[in-house]
Formats: sequence, structure tokens, C-alpha cells
Amino acid sequence: MSEYRRLRVALLGAGAVGSQVAALLLRHGDELADRAGASLELAGIAVRDVDAPRDVELPKELFTTDAESLILGSDIVIELIGGIEPARTNILQAIGSGADVVTANKALLATHGPELFEAADRVGASVYYEAAAAGAIPIIRPLRDSLAGDRVVRIMGIVNGTTNYILDRMDTEGADFADVLADAQRLGYAEADPTADVEGYDAAQKAAILASLAFHTAVPLDAVHREGITSITASMITEARSAGFVIKLLAVCERIEAGGTESISVRVYPALVPQSHPLANVHGANNAVFVEAEAAGSLMFYGAGAGGVQTASAVLGDVVSAARRHIAGGVGVGESTRANLPIVPIGHVTTRYQITLEVSDAPGVLATVAGILSDGGVSVATVVQTVEGEAEPTARLVIGTHRATEEALSATVVALADSSVVERVVSVLRVEGE
Ligand code: NDP
Ligand code: HSE
Repeated sequence: MSEYRRLRVALLGAGAVGSQVAALLLRHGDELADRAGASLELAGIAVRDVDAPRDVELPKELFTTDAESLILGSDIVIELIGGIEPARTNILQAIGSGADVVTANKALLATHGPELFEAADRVGASVYYEAAAAGAIPIIRPLRDSLAGDRVVRIMGIVNGTTNYILDRMDTEGADFADVLADAQRLGYAEADPTADVEGYDAAQKAAILASLAFHTAVPLDAVHREGITSITASMITEARSAGFVIKLLAVCERIEAGGTESISVRVYPALVPQSHPLANVHGANNAVFVEAEAAGSLMFYGAGAGGVQTASAVLGDVVSAARRHIAGGVGVGESTRANLPIVPIGHVTTRYQITLEVSDAPGVLATVAGILSDGGVSVATVVQTVEGEAEPTARLVIGTHRATEEALSATVVALADSSVVERVVSVLRVEGE
């Protein structure tokens, strides 16, 4: 074996992902050294509790609670703690001490990304984060490098493994939300606080990261419209299936024209996807990201979106890149946000909707409902009516609309809810992927 320069690698965190990164780095060290052109020495692993049980067996002597001492003197720092602090401070310390950084921390990147990238730029260091969006799937490099010469028009994807796992098991097994969430936590898919998954925060963070790269525009997290899956019930899933759809939590990032100005929209919500669409067939904790670019056309990226060992693959790819750059020298990768496109609020975005109503089964009801939709500027594409009960029958109307703005649709749903003929607005879901 040739004599490689030795690089000290500090690992912060040994949870679902970190423990697998450490195990793979120790197991495949020689092979990775050949690829990186540098020997990667795992200098230590910073955790909260050195005696806590780990998913895999790791040498006890590597563990420490003193992250700061470990960081100083390291060439590459892998941050797998998650959350904002102490991860942010640790990364700034690493950059300040001349290290390159690898992180999977989308929460931190979506809120403090510009601060970290600027700090890295000032000293010529790099921050690598392939694992921060869609787990093991290579999507950051394709957007940042491979598509840098093209113009991305739209990204539509399933970017949260936990919610896909939950919705999929509710759909295919009729499983209970709480039980499936507990399984997702046990399997290491969920965030430390699973609210981040089920309320769509994690997907919104990933959408902000992907949109920033795709549209060369800094997308702050609060510009991402976010809805989670906690309002999705078993009966909504069953009804969606019988109407030919599957409910998926989607991240949609698109280039749109608003008031004659090129703009972007970034949003996360549960949506109806036709059963024939490839996204409808993304099962378990898998993710899939569709990218549409002007010259390249449609591209699809698919694979494991969560899970310790799967995510470790993306982290170690970044470690090899960081090592190569560290050896070669030169400036870091840098982030391009120069396009600085305006971000359109959700109210101005147009989509198709499916509105399910319970109405009294009486003459003139359908005409009243149609009138409210028409007054709101929402055009009807399809209507399906079913009637339940004999003594006091209730009709269920499933109305598919043509494209309408969110603003018009929301006002119309309020008017429907206020109408005397509508007993209940059962659900309002957007339709994507048609
Ligand atoms: P875990 O919660 O499983 O592990 C977190 C680790 O960080 C633990 O080892 C914990 O130590 C350590 N830690 C927490 N606080 C501190 C602290 N103050 N100082 C030192 N160490 C600390 O997280 P995951 O491995 O699941 O996730 C890590 C990162 O990867 C997160 O940013 C997450 O969003 C991201 N990610 C996770 C994926 C997944 O499938 N799990 C997929 C893609 C990205 P101790 O063990 O002693 O408590
Ligand atoms: N909790 C995240 C998910 C981990 O379920 O997708 C991967 O980022």
C-alpha cells in the first residue's frame, strides 16, 4: 500500500447514522484511503453519554464528551448530532480551525446555511451535505454540479422517509398512525422529535435546500409553505384509493411566472397523486425526487430516504470528497445564490384540488354548491355523488376542480363551509402529478 497523507477525522454523534458511519469508516478504511488518496484516521467520536448502548460495536476508547478538543486538530469534522445547537457552534469551530465539514443536518442548513457557507468561504473550507436531503439518494451533487449548466424548472419529490413509511402502511395494511410512527422511530427513520417529520418541517427544510441549489436563490425556511400529514385519516386514504389516487407528502419546488416576473414557489403538503404515477409506487421509507430541467428533460432519483446505514453511504461519499479536496487544496465548493429569484407566497400558486363535502340530499343542493364554486372563480372539472342513509339521506360530493389559485380556493372553501346546504367539508386536497 502506498504511503498516504494521514487525515484526522472527528465524528460528532453516534446515533442511528453516526454509529454506522464510524463502523463503515473503520471496516473499509483501506479501501476509502485508496479512493481518497489519503488515510482517514477516525480520531474520536463525541457523544453526550459515552456509556450509552450503540447500534453497532465500536471501540470504547474512541468516545468522548469533549467535542471541542476533538474538533481542534482535525482535518475533517463529520457532524451527526442534529438540531441547531451545539451543532452550529461545533461546525463554526471546525471551519475556524481549518477543517472541512460533512453534515446531514438539514434543520441547521435550512436555518443557518448562509452563515455556515460564508464562514467556510472566508477560509476556503467546504461544507458537504449530500445526506441532508433524501438520505442515501445522490441529489445534492446532481443539482449543484451535474445540472449547473442547465435551468431547473421543477422538482417534485417525496423527501421524508418517515411520513412515506406511515402513509404507505396506512394505505397498504390499514395500519394505525401512532403504531406505524412508533415503528418508524424504532427503525431509526424519524427525527429525534418526530413532530419534525409528521408536521412536514423536515420535508420543508429539505425543500428549502433543494430549491436554493436548483434555482441559485437563497430560500429561507419561512418562505416554504408547509403542511404535515397529521390531518390525513384512514378514510381519506381509502377514498383516495377508490378514486384512483394515493396520498403522498410532496415537496414541490418550481419556477413560475408571477405578474410577468420569473419567480419560484416552494411548498410541502400532502397531495393526491394518480396511482399510475411513479411517485405513487414509492413504498416504505424510500424517497424519490423528480427533476425537470429545460435541456435535460425529466430525471428521477430514487432510493432509501432514511435509515442509519443507508444515510451513512452519503455521508462517507462526502468524507471521500472532503479528503480529496483537503489533499488537493484550493478553494471550497461555494454556493451560488446569485439568481436571487423572488419567492411567490402560496396564495398565488395554482393547482388542481379535490374537495369532499357532505351535503343534504335535497333538490337544488348541487346547483347551490356549483354557484358558490363559480362565484369564487373555481371551475369544476368532475363531480361524483354518493348517497348514504335512507330516512335522512346525506350525499357525499367529491368535486375535482380545474387549476385555481390557493387564494381563490381557500375563500371558496370558507363560503362552502358557511353554506346552509353543506353539512361538513370533509377534506380539501391538492392534486399533483397529472
Ligand atoms: P440520533 O438522535 O440517532 O443521534 C444523535 C447523536 O448525537 C447521538 O449519538 C447523541 O449522543 C449525539 N448528541 C446529541 N447531542 C449531543 C451533544 N450536545 N454533544 C455531543 N453529542 C450529542 O440522530 P440520527 O443519527 O438519526 O441523525 C443525525 C443527523 O442525521 C441529524 O441531523 C438527522 O436529521 C440527519 N439524518 C438522519 C437520517 C436518519 O435516517 N436517521 C437520514 C438523513 C439525515 P448520545 O448517543 O450519547 O445521546
Ligand atoms: N427523518 C428523516 C426522514 C430522516 O424520515 O426522512 C432522513 O432525512
